[in-house]
Amino acid sequence: GPGGSLAGRRVLVTSGPTHEPIDPVRYIANRSSGRQGHAIAEAAAAAGAAVTLVSGPVSLPDPPGVAVVRVETAREMLAAVEAALPAEVAIFTAAVADFRPAEARGSKIKKDGAAPAPLGLVENPDILATIAGRASGRPALVVGFAAETDTVIDHARAKIARKGCDLLVANDVSPAGGVMGGTRNTVHLVSRDGSVETWPTLDKDEVGRRLVERFARMLAG
Ligand code: C5P
Repeated sequence: GPGGSLAGRRVLVTSGPTHEPIDPVRYIANRSSGRQGHAIAEAAAAAGAAVTLVSGPVSLPDPPGVAVVRVETAREMLAAVEAALPAEVAIFTAAVADFRPAEARGSKIKKDGAAPAPLGLVENPDILATIAGRASGRPALVVGFAAETDTVIDHARAKIARKGCDLLVANDVSPAGGVMGGTRNTVHLVSRDGSVETWPTLDKDEVGRRLVERFARMLAG
């Protein structure tokens, strides 16, 4: 609320997957539910922040007290993020599609007996790296997420340097763990100096609240 640890702060959160159109009825997507990003946005609002949540397509209700901007594609997400800045804290929880079809077909691709045309893919903009690398107007605290299925910590250490963020929250999304789409998460906080703090498995809501308290301390410190 008004006296919370993020009172008066502007916080931007991305959440959910992106959908990258193939034709008018088909798209490339991933298994992100948006639960962790939405939980962070809700916790930040509860801590007194003015929160904008830029969300890909999810089936979750809007978190209370949060301004929600709905987008579909990575490029739309980048534009909405730019429009939502400036902010003191930016948290990139979304599972953005790395690639999109080079050109979405204008009409539904038909099955005509011939071999299907290959789906030419091009790289999407990296929203986190774009914002973290800004010369001016960079949020004071930029947080990335890393969903990995193997050697989680090693990948996270490499990623924090590559992306230029201040903190990376890494989690194991191997299918057996049930994290993607599930309600619980086990996270590792990787700092720029390479140090790692591993939290116990918690509800995503609780992970959101604890992360928000950490962000508030980092901003104050
Ligand atoms: O490289 P990877 O996709 O694993 O990086 C994950 C982090 O980068 C997440 O914080 C995600 O939200 C962000 N990201 C992004 N734009 C992309 C790809 C990833 O903001 N195109």
